[in-house]
Amino acid sequence: MTLYPGVALITGAASGIGRATAISFAREGCRKIAIADQNETGLEETSKLLQEAASNETIDVFSKKVNVAVEDEVNGFIDGVADKFGRIDYCANCAGTLLSLASIFKVVRGKAETVADQERIYWQVF
Ligand SMILES: NC(=O)c1ccc[n+]([C@@H]2O[C@H](COP(=O)([O-])OP(=O)(O)OC[C@H]3O[C@@H](n4cnc5c(N)ncnc54)[C@H](O)[C@@H]3O)[C@@H](O)[C@H]2O)c1
Repeated sequence: MTLYPGVALITGAASGIGRATAISFAREGCRKIAIADQNETGLEETSKLLQEAASNETIDVFSKKVNVAVEDEVNGFIDGVADKFGRIDYCANCAGTLLSLASIFKVVRGKAETVADQERIYWQVF
């Protein structure tokens, strides 16, 4: 018996947390999975990994290249999922960009006039 009999939708599924989340759904028995990302090559790889995670069972994967910052693309994706699966039961919105510590420090440095300022801003960020 699966924990997830419905339809799962995951954005940012071409890598990292989104890919791991999609694979977890497949491993736990979810057999209808919609994945989106702006990285098409990564999405193709994730689709293969989902097939593997489903072992010998049939899994239906709807995959679409989407920039989640573009409303029309997001709406097109949701419409596509609705057309294919008729519903969405679980959603993980993982698309995003991890700001590196180095770039955070650049921002902190740019705004701080003293070391004390730098520390204060640093602790506000974290
Ligand atoms: N990894 C961590 O420790 C951590 C911690 C806290 C928060 N986060 C946040 O979680 C999110 C995912 O992190 P991750 O480590 O999986 O990163 P990741 O870079 O491995 O994966 C992010 C995915 O999102 C996709 N993406 C980025 N912008 C997009 C857009 N506009 N449209 C569609 N797809 C887009 C990328 O192509 C990529 O496949 C990020 O927003 C990150 O800031 C990560």
